[in-house]
Amino acid sequence: MAKFWVCAAGAGFFLACLILHSRFCGSPVLRNFAFQVSWRTEEILYRLDVDWPEYSEYFTGATFGVAVDSLNGLVYVAQRGDNIPKVLVFTEDGCFLRAWNYTVDTPHGIFAASTLHEQSVWITDVGSGSYGHTIKKYNSFGDLVQVLGTPGKKGTGLNPLQFDNPAELYVEDTGDMYIVDGDGGLNNRLIKLSQDFMILWLHGENGTEPAKFNIPHSVTLDSAGRVWVADRGNKRIQVFDKDTGEWLGAWTNCFTEEGPSSVRFTLDGKYLIVAQLNLSRLLFVAAPPAGSIGDCSVISTIQLADQVLPHLLDVSGKTGAIFVAEIGAKQFYCKICSS
Ligand SMILES: *[C@@H]1O[C@H](CO)[C@@H](O)[C@H](O)[C@H]1NC(C)=O
Ligand SMILES: *[C@@H]1O[C@H](CO)[C@@H](O)[C@H](O)[C@H]1NC(C)=O
Ligand SMILES: *[C@@H]1O[C@H](CO)[C@@H](O)[C@H](O)[C@H]1NC(C)=O
Repeated sequence: MAKFWVCAAGAGFFLACLILHSRFCGSPVLRNFAFQVSWRTEEILYRLDVDWPEYSEYFTGATFGVAVDSLNGLVYVAQRGDNIPKVLVFTEDGCFLRAWNYTVDTPHGIFAASTLHEQSVWITDVGSGSYGHTIKKYNSFGDLVQVLGTPGKKGTGLNPLQFDNPAELYVEDTGDMYIVDGDGGLNNRLIKLSQDFMILWLHGENGTEPAKFNIPHSVTLDSAGRVWVADRGNKRIQVFDKDTGEWLGAWTNCFTEEGPSSVRFTLDGKYLIVAQLNLSRLLFVAAPPAGSIGDCSVISTIQLADQVLPHLLDVSGKTGAIFVAEIGAKQFYCKICSS
């Protein structure tokens, strides 16, 4: 059985645990891939944690999403493939706990929404099977608690609520949630739901104008009450007021090569981390102060290994480590990961 790995590089260092797994197990070149700079400088400090998780054999499919539940020290990984567990649960230290595949068809986005009273995780399902086109809430053991959407039936309806390839969601502590729907289906919309799943506001059109979308792929919030959406097909990030839904601005200048796939803020809120899938790259973009969006400014870049395809990412609320789900990093299989 798994033993504990401490996901920490020691005092004075920040680190990133990236889900790169087996691909790195046998590669001395990639092992040297490291970003370590002293805390005391203002630089962004990450190194690749090749020891996360302890045994990469658990990744039997293609990893599409990852969610960190820092309140309970858990990491949920969503993977796709035939006859495999779809959700893997690890400790933040990389110790495997359990897995499930019941009622999950084709997972896309995943979000840990635990409170002090309840451990839970939400999954957006883009499958066309009987559990597809839904957004589902599970407890930490894989029991289905809530289903949004019409299972197995894609659609554009709002009453009842329907989705088509829902891409991702972000849930606030209050239970209010922001959904991007979706990943190339019928809908190109951003919906805010209340904790009892009533629509509070929505932007629902396909297009290139402000507040319209083309593949809204990822969504996150900042501490200034703004909603950030990776509008991937339009190669931009759009920003909205979380209370009113008002459009606040857009960034286009950083994404001329490729649209953003994933958006999350660093723990200190200073940077927006943006994944670019085909470029296998993470951008660190300066987060603008409240009241202004301006242009985007890339402060730092992490070039990942070729073809690993970073899809969605999440940030530990405890350590600041970045976990990246990489679709392409699955074709290597390492039986003995060096310890
Ligand atoms: C669920 O996972 C188990 C292994 O954990 C596997 O044997 C089974 O075939 C999987 N079922 C589906 C429907 O993927
Ligand atoms: C959205 O608009 C783009 C560009 O005009 C088009 O390629 C795409 O098919 C449209 N999507 C839908 C769902 O209508
Ligand atoms: C990545 O490349 C594939 C294959 O060329 C393409 O279909 C896809 O649209 C690209 N994705 C992005 C986000 O650019």
